[in-house]
Amino acid sequence: MKIAVIGLGKLGLPLALLLSKRDHDVLGIDTNKSRITSIEEGVVENEPGLSALLKEVERKNFEVTNKFDTKITECDLIFLILPTPSKIDHKFSSELIKDSILEIVSMKFKTSLVDICIVSTVNPGDSREIEKIIAKSSAKSETKFNLYYSPEFIALGTIIKNMENPDSILLGEHKVNSIGGDKIVNVLKTLALNEPKICRMSLTSAEITKIAINSYVTTKISFANFIGELADKFQEADKFSILQSIGSDSRIGEKYLRPGLGFGGPCFPRDNRAIAAMAKEVGVSADIAIATDKVNIRQPEIRANEISERFNFQPNKNILLLGLSYKSGSYVVEESQAIMLANELNSRGFKISVFDPISIDFAIDKLDKNIETYKIDEGVEKFDLIINAVASTDFESITSLIPQEKYLRL
Ligand SMILES: NC(=O)c1ccc[n+]([C@@H]2O[C@H](COP(=O)([O-])OP(=O)(O)OC[C@H]3O[C@@H](n4cnc5c(N)ncnc54)[C@H](O)[C@@H]3O)[C@@H](O)[C@H]2O)c1
Repeated sequence: MKIAVIGLGKLGLPLALLLSKRDHDVLGIDTNKSRITSIEEGVVENEPGLSALLKEVERKNFEVTNKFDTKITECDLIFLILPTPSKIDHKFSSELIKDSILEIVSMKFKTSLVDICIVSTVNPGDSREIEKIIAKSSAKSETKFNLYYSPEFIALGTIIKNMENPDSILLGEHKVNSIGGDKIVNVLKTLALNEPKICRMSLTSAEITKIAINSYVTTKISFANFIGELADKFQEADKFSILQSIGSDSRIGEKYLRPGLGFGGPCFPRDNRAIAAMAKEVGVSADIAIATDKVNIRQPEIRANEISERFNFQPNKNILLLGLSYKSGSYVVEESQAIMLANELNSRGFKISVFDPISIDFAIDKLDKNIETYKIDEGVEKFDLIINAVASTDFESITSLIPQEKYLRL
C-alpha cells in the first residue's frame, strides 16, 4: 500500500517515518521547501529518537517532496497533518485542510477508492463539512474519496514513544466499521508495539473525543492547583501529601494531579478553549472548561505572590529561573507558564536571570528585554533564589550547588 503523509511537521514527520519503518511505502509532502531540504539533509528538531529514526529509514521507502505532483495519485491512503491554528474565537481553522483536500480530489488517481484521514485537531462538525466539499468537488471523478478522522494523543518530547505505545486508536469514520476504517486501523496498529484499545465511532464523535480528552486532563491539572491554593492557606497543610493521597484513589489516579505552574504548550490550552467555544456555539454552558482556563491563567501570578511574600515584598533580589519551555525537556515555548512567571517577577522589580539551553533561542523574544541569560560558568552565589520552573532533573549540576532554602522546585 502506498501512503501519503501531507504535512511533515512536529507530528507528521515522525508518523511518516514510523510508517516507513514498518515497511509501508511512504510519500511525504510538505509545502515548506526549507523543511524538505532539512529532512533531506537529516537536520530535524530536538525530538528524542527523531534523528535516529530519520537515519534508520533513509534506505527504506520514504520519499519527500514539496509539491502536490502526480506521485500522490499512486497513493490509496492519505494522512493530513496540517496546522489548524486557533482563531480569535478559539475555534480551530481548518482552511489548510480544506484547500489541501480540494487539491487532492481534483487530481486523477490511479485507484478507484482513496481513503483520506485527517490527523490534525479539528472542530466538531468540520469533517462532515469537509465531506460535503469532497462530494461536490469530486462528483465527476472516477475515484471515490472517503473521509476519516484519527487524531494523535502525543506529547512533545515523547512523540515516537507515544506513537508506538498509544492507549487507544481513535477513528472517526464516514460510516462506522467501514472497510476503509478497517484498513486505517490495521495500518495504525502496525505502528503500535502494544495492544491499544480500538475506538471506532462517527466523525463528529471522534472530533469531540479528541478535545474532550485534553480538556479533561487540563481540568485535573487546574483542580490540583486549586487544592494546592487552598492548602497553602493553612499553615499545617501540605498540598503535596494531600494530592498524592487524592491520586491514590483508583477512581481518580495520580497522573496530572501535582500542584505546579499549570499547563501550557501547543495543545492543552487551545483544545480546552476550543471545547468551550464549541459548547457556547451550540448553547451548552462551558463552565468547567472556562474555570479550568481561569485557574491556569492565574498560576504564574500566584507563584509570583508567594515569592514576593518570601522576600517581604522587597524586590531587590536576584532570582535565577531554570526552564523556559512549557514542560521539562522540551524546546517548545508556546503558552509557557515559566516565561509568564519570569516576566511577572521581572515586572515586580526582581532581577531575573534565566537558563534553558534547549529553548532559550525560542524563548528570547517572549522574555522581557531586561531579563538576563545565565551562563553556566557564572556561579550561583549571587542568587537569593533559584527556581526550577519545569520540575526538571536536567538542572541538577546547578541546583546541587545551592542550599535547600534558596531552591524552589515548582
Ligand atoms: N504538536 C503537538 O503536540 C500536537 C499534538 C496533537 C495534535 N496536534 C495537531 O496536529 C496538527 C499538526 O501539528 P504539528 O505540531 O505537527 O504542526 P507543525 O506546524 O509542526 O507542522 C505542520 C507542517 O505542515 C506544513 N504545511 C503547512 N501547510 C501545508 C500544505 N498546504 N501542504 C503541505 N504541508 C503544509 C508545514 O510546513 C509544517 O511542516 C495540528 O492540528 C495540531 O493541533 C499537535
